[in-house]
Amino acid sequence: MKGTALATGSGYGKVILFGEHFVVYGLPAIASAVADSTLAEATFARATEAFPSGVGPGTFVLEGKGWTLYDSRPETRGYKNEKALEQKKSIELMLAFLKIDTAKTPLKIILAGDLRAASGVGASAASCAAVARAISGLFNLGLSDAMINEVAHEGEKGYHGTPSGIDDTAATYGGLFLFRKGQPKNQVELIKTQKPVEIVMGNTGLTASTTTVVNGVKERRAAEPQKFARIFADAEKIVHESKKALEAGDLKMVGELMNRNHELLVEIGVSGKKLDQLVEIARKEGAPGAKITGTGVGGYMVALTPGRDLQDRVAKAMEKAGFAVLRTSIGK
Ligand code: MEV
Repeated sequence: MKGTALATGSGYGKVILFGEHFVVYGLPAIASAVADSTLAEATFARATEAFPSGVGPGTFVLEGKGWTLYDSRPETRGYKNEKALEQKKSIELMLAFLKIDTAKTPLKIILAGDLRAASGVGASAASCAAVARAISGLFNLGLSDAMINEVAHEGEKGYHGTPSGIDDTAATYGGLFLFRKGQPKNQVELIKTQKPVEIVMGNTGLTASTTTVVNGVKERRAAEPQKFARIFADAEKIVHESKKALEAGDLKMVGELMNRNHELLVEIGVSGKKLDQLVEIARKEGAPGAKITGTGVGGYMVALTPGRDLQDRVAKAMEKAGFAVLRTSIGK
């Protein structure tokens, strides 16, 4: 093997503002990397030939054929255990895609960083992009961002089965963008806002399986095609309107559209008690919009909270009710 013995890489976490689930069926959606001027939320991976130093007690260890993963990311309790099989599959898919022979070159991979290993915040995609970058560095592959995105997409199949690609795109490139799955290429359009807008992401503390939740939606759609056709049409309209509202800085409208999007997600059956509770808290504290984000059932919700004061008020109310939160912002 040529190359250095140690390489690092990173990937962004994400928040889906509009269109999760519908995006799997080719409808547009809007997502943003999670970022904050003071907090870099990312997952870092290090791939090394030597036994890793700095791996402490409490580190989650996963063994594969010729590779070991040391995962010291912060987590929602139980997440790493629940996702272990999917994570293993994901690493193996990426290694196979890159034709890395771990029989010849045993690998140690370390995951760390601030991004919480949790449902709803793009943790799996962030880790895939981070691992892809670290491996590219270690083996001197010189992969472009487009290739990293492809590798991360392959890795996401371990978690999602049939990922739309929105999470791995956010994980690879960051930014705020409209996404539409396509063949042979996805459509990705960057969205410019007039200034950054504060958001709060509330964590239910529950881990959800994206594959299971996505399959549930598929079954309900097959059982009620007319209802879903109406919901899909509404969802697409909401995405186009929200892009315009984001660009125009019409945050009242963005919030209203988030609320409408939330109702559609409730209708397709991906809400949950704690998600509804968090959404209610956010609205009661004055957030113009709040909704499930990502897979749903558990995981995170997102509240639009323009201004530091509102962001703080909403975040504190959620914390007071016993939930962990992520304060961040979207756009620029
Ligand atoms: C998961 O973060 C987003 C979903 O739309 C699945 C996908 O896009 O692959 C639920």
